[in-house]
Amino acid sequence: MRKKFLQWIEINSSAFKHNLNQFRNLIGATKKLLIVVKANAYGHGIIEISRLAENCGVDWLGVNSLEEALIIKRNGISLPILILGYVGLVDLPEAVENEFRLTVYNKETIEKLGEITSKIKKKAYLHIKVETGTHRQGINKEELIPFIKFIKKYPYLSIEGLSTHFANIEDTTDHSYAQKQLNMFNFCIELLKRKGIFIPVKHTACTAATILFPETYFDMVRVGIGIYGLWPSKETYLSCLLRGRQPVSLKPILTWKTRIAQIKNVPEGSFIGYGCTYKTTRPTKLAVLPIGYYDGYDRKLSNFSYVLIKGKRAPVRGRVAMNMITVDITDIPGVKLEDEVVLLGEQGNEIISAEYLASLCGTINYEIVTRINPLIPRIVI
Ligand SMILES: Cc1ncc(COP(=O)(O)O)c(C=O)c1O
Repeated sequence: MRKKFLQWIEINSSAFKHNLNQFRNLIGATKKLLIVVKANAYGHGIIEISRLAENCGVDWLGVNSLEEALIIKRNGISLPILILGYVGLVDLPEAVENEFRLTVYNKETIEKLGEITSKIKKKAYLHIKVETGTHRQGINKEELIPFIKFIKKYPYLSIEGLSTHFANIEDTTDHSYAQKQLNMFNFCIELLKRKGIFIPVKHTACTAATILFPETYFDMVRVGIGIYGLWPSKETYLSCLLRGRQPVSLKPILTWKTRIAQIKNVPEGSFIGYGCTYKTTRPTKLAVLPIGYYDGYDRKLSNFSYVLIKGKRAPVRGRVAMNMITVDITDIPGVKLEDEVVLLGEQGNEIISAEYLASLCGTINYEIVTRINPLIPRIVI
């Protein structure tokens, strides 16, 4: 008999396709769509999402690390993969061997890549990252032409892309800083034009930029959070309205579920969990759930959040422990052992959103989903 999971993540493939269509409609047929599947596809399952992406006609995948790129390739997914983060010098041969596209901004990386590719006579495809004001990765505009000249010394290095990343596009309704960054990126493109240098895949846009600013699309967009059906922020939604743009319709694709592991009745005045932080104020029926902060259910949710059982809210009582939480089911009749529980997502007419959990934890929806333990099975439905 098939194992009955005690917790699992359901991925709604039709919601994924819906979100994908929203972004396709925004960018039109001529621009490429890269979806960002780093951080275990924002917690949704890197293999499951990459496979779904391939089946649904996504053009490129974006990851942070070589390890993530290898996981995708080893699972037989053949979409082009752009590594957005840093690849260590010793790992560059493996990246070249596997034909992963590399984000580059260090001379040391170019030297090493030049050496490797000349030895094995194999091309490496590079995306130069330009520093426009985020001050993370990237080279300054003054370094761009010398950097390109340096790359061109090596016959097997091909400059495929030019990119940058916005620092302040989702956290605000004032996009003047993003505009400055965009102006600088455009200045770099002008510079290249004047020198007769053509780079085919120019890209800058994350989800917020894709939703708000068509002038950031260039040849490809890099959509992360939006493809999972989540808004980058309230400010992005508000900016849409302020700019008279019809907000895209996004459907969250993830539901996190578990099952009840024990049901018990306790008298009024009973303490619940580590630290005795909750004391019952009435005779109470409790359900113990086999999930905890190890699974990504943040300890800050202790005594604050609720879960859904039979379409009703069951409040979390006491501390979130490493592998267990306890919820109050006194007001939900007919609950049985191993009944399904929703920790994040919809059940009946109720919903627990990533934004709601984020507000309780003092963080953003990105962190809520990316923190879900990668070992939990992901099931595409
Ligand atoms: C370089 C780069 N591009 C695109 C994205 C996607 O951003 P979002 O999830 O807001 O769409 C990220 C996310 O961190 C990123 O680092």
